[in-house]
Order: sequence, then structure tokens, then C-alpha cells
Amino acid sequence: MAYAAGVDVGSTQTKAVVIDEQGRIVGRALTMTGANVTRAAEEAFAIALADGDVREEEVEYVVGTGYGRYKVTFGNTQVTEISCHGRGAVHMFPNTRTVVDMGGQDTKAIRVSARGEIVDFCMNDKCAAGTGRFLGAASSALEIPLDQLGHTALRGERPVKISTTCTVFAESEVLSWLGKGKKIEDILLGVHQSIAGRSTGLAWRVGIEPEVTFTGGVAKNIAMIESLEKAMGMKVNVSDDSHYMGALGAALFALDHIFASRTPAATRGVTA
Ligand SMILES: Nc1ncnc2c1ncn2[C@@H]1O[C@H](COP(=O)(O)OP(=O)(O)OP(=O)(O)O)[C@@H](O)[C@H]1O
Ligand SMILES: [Mg+2]
Repeated sequence: MAYAAGVDVGSTQTKAVVIDEQGRIVGRALTMTGANVTRAAEEAFAIALADGDVREEEVEYVVGTGYGRYKVTFGNTQVTEISCHGRGAVHMFPNTRTVVDMGGQDTKAIRVSARGEIVDFCMNDKCAAGTGRFLGAASSALEIPLDQLGHTALRGERPVKISTTCTVFAESEVLSWLGKGKKIEDILLGVHQSIAGRSTGLAWRVGIEPEVTFTGGVAKNIAMIESLEKAMGMKVNVSDDSHYMGALGAALFALDHIFASRTPAATRGVTA
């Protein structure tokens, strides 16, 4: 039994998965990317191996992806995160035609074919307004942990209208609403709806074709799932492994390579 691995070194968090020959995830790891990108990749890979009880020698091929993919020095090759999120999403939800990946720095909308090939994609340029970073700014301004933001926002009834589109001003706008006596949950619901609205606008640039699959770390946020569904007017697919979708896609490309490298040998064996 051979294994394949994918390591997605994102701007904020590094994700690694080890998969078996059936494409099932057997080990996962999530670490902060931090300043030493190579070390983050090595660490995530080691944790994923331990999590899956797999030895490094059993992993035949490793694909690096994400913004730091060239720092996956132990990897065999690199594939862009657009391709990897598309591939991972179609593997997990075969009817996926549109992928929305919300990460720490970027939001990307990707249109994919039934075979998981990229048809078109679009990403937020210049500014991290539609991303986890914006949520991070709201989280620190309101002193609410990131993993509690969504639950708090869902208690909101009268969302405030967030006007800033810039992460740099997000914190001061959130604080100014607080100063005007608005409830934390209404401010947070407004923040989520604002990000969902901008991400939906981005997705329309590639055309929103159902099914939509939501990937990246922000897919952990229940209020963002609901806000995105409301803004798009349709259900979106989310998995417990949505955060690992890029790493999964990378691992599937690695598995392709393993199978492809076996084929010529097998053919030679038959004809010899
Ligand atoms: N448990 C959680 N609850 C809510 N949000 C979370 C949680 N874990 C991570 N996030 C959000 O996910 C973001 C990181 O997502 P992800 O790992 O997909 O980003 P990345 O790949 O590093 O960034 P990019 O793709 O933009 O380079 C964090 O900034 C945070 O906002
Ligand atoms: Mg990412």
C-alpha cells in the first residue's frame, strides 16, 4: 500500500494530508505558517504522518501547494492552489461546479468541470476585505475568539451595515459601531454579511453554477456558511475537511503521479 501527501502552505495556516490509494484521508495536520515557511511545511507533514500512523518512506509522492508551495523542499512537485481546491472539492462533492475558497489572505472563486478541471477563476485583488483577515480584525476588536465569531453573529437580529471594504479600517469601524451602542452580535452579523456579499460578487465574475462548495479555513465559520448561502440564494457544500481541501487536491495530484508512474512498468511487464 502506497500513500500520497499534499501540503498546502497558506499565507496564514499550513495544512497537510496523507491519503491512501483510494483517495481517503488517513492523516491530517494544521499549523500556523508563521515566519519560517519551510519549517511550517516540514512540521505539518510530520504531524500528518504521525496522525495517520504512516512512515515517511511509505509516502511515494508529495505535492506542495499554496502561496508557500516552493518552500515545500521535501515535495516532489508543486501545483497551484486554484487547481488543488478545485480538485479536492470535486473529489469530495462530485457535483461541484463552483468553488469559493476563503482563506486568511485571499478569497478565490473557481469554476470547475465535472472532471475537476479549472474552467475559470477569479480572486480578490489588492485587499483582504473578503477574507479571514477581515474576520481576524473584527475578532481582536471585539475580543471574541475566532472560533466563537460565527456563533455570536448568528444571535444577531439587526445587522449593521459595514461600509469599509478595507481590513485596515475594519477594526475602527467595528469599534465605532460599538461606541454607537450597537450590539456585538449585530455588528458581527453585519461583518459576515458584508464579506459574504463581496465574495458572492466575486463569484458572479466567474458565474455561479451549482453546486457550490465552500473551502478554506473560513468554511469553519457557521455564520459565514449561512451568510454565503443567503447571498448566493442556494445551499453550499461544506465538509469537516473543507479547511483541508487544497491539501487534499494536492495529495490527489500526487496519487495521479504514483498511478501514472506504475502504468508504463505494468505495460512493459505485460508485453515483455
Ligand atoms: N476554527 C475556526 N473558526 C473560524 N474561522 C477559522 C477557524 N480556523 C481558521 N479560521 C479562519 O481561516 C483562516 C485561515 O484559512 P486558510 O488556512 O484556508 O488560509 P490560508 O490558506 O493560510 O490563506 P490563503 O489561502 O489566503 O493564502 C483564518 O484567517 C481564520 O479566519
Ligand atoms: Mg489557502
